Amino acid sequence: QIMKVFITRRIPQEGMKILSQAGVCKVSLWDSDETVPRAELLKGVAGAHGLLCLLSDKIDTEVLDAAGPNLKVISTLSVGFDHMKLSLCPRLHVLCRGVRVGYTPDVLTDATAELTVALLLATARRLPEGVVEVKNGGWSTWKPLWLCGYGLSGSTVGVIGLGRIGMAIARRLKPFGVKRLLYSGRTAKSYAAEVEGEYVPLDTLVSESDFVVVSCALTPETQGLCNKDFFIKMKNTAVFINTSRGAVVNQEDLYQALSSGQIACAGLDVTTPEPLPTDHPLLTLNNCVVLPHIGSATYSTRGIMAELSANNLLAGLQGTDMPSELKF
Ligand code: GLV
Ligand code: GLV
Repeated sequence: QIMKVFITRRIPQEGMKILSQAGVCKVSLWDSDETVPRAELLKGVAGAHGLLCLLSDKIDTEVLDAAGPNLKVISTLSVGFDHMKLSLCPRLHVLCRGVRVGYTPDVLTDATAELTVALLLATARRLPEGVVEVKNGGWSTWKPLWLCGYGLSGSTVGVIGLGRIGMAIARRLKPFGVKRLLYSGRTAKSYAAEVEGEYVPLDTLVSESDFVVVSCALTPETQGLCNKDFFIKMKNTAVFINTSRGAVVNQEDLYQALSSGQIACAGLDVTTPEPLPTDHPLLTLNNCVVLPHIGSATYSTRGIMAELSANNLLAGLQGTDMPSELKF
């Protein structure tokens, strides 16, 4: 019996090819680069055996109900899974229905770490401001006090969440002459020794770091973690970087911290909501660099993510081992 699969967006052809060559499923695709409307998602998933979704699709019990009893697998083209409201109801709603979940860790670690380093340097050294000045005639001469920022050499870097991506960021930043590498999280990590990482309480990390880099998953514990109290503890000269999930940050508090000089500057690859409305207060600040969630956006990484999510989907349909299955 040919199984039915719904894909919520155009994805790189590497993934589509794997699904068509497998010959076990009939794919229906929301054939667009824009988010599938909720009603179309609910319609598309009806009777499906497999769902391939993105981090911009909210997957909850309504979607599972709309899919019905055929559903065997949900495969997300992302490492993050906070958009699947499974943390609220993992065993109850997904496991009891026998739905397996695939995701794409590891394959995007390097690309995301690179983007984080790029954003950190661009923010600290004020590259977007400089580019604008060149274009608008603000560059009048070489000025000793103009467009100065902050460097990594001799600095203390704090990584919140030293997971796969956090560790890849730390490895890349160390050679810039970072003096101390602090990290915080639920547990100390033995692999942190490679970057001479010091496991410290969050408060210590926040108050002692020149660069605070958020690289943790969004969970009930990390939601709103970076709030008023957090920013008040940071140095006035510190740089704040977030490439994990927007909701880890209280954006009103971040705006206050940036506009009052509580902290020096911020670079964000993730926001709430996404997209950030073009009239959002954060976008009026020169000391805030906002990117449109492009951490994993290299051609090759996105191709490999599509392959992995297609292979996860097929394994879920066929009841075989998944290359990357989410275990609760
Ligand atoms: C990107 O944010 C991802 O979760 O893959
Ligand atoms: C997950 O967020 C990771 O660090 O890979």
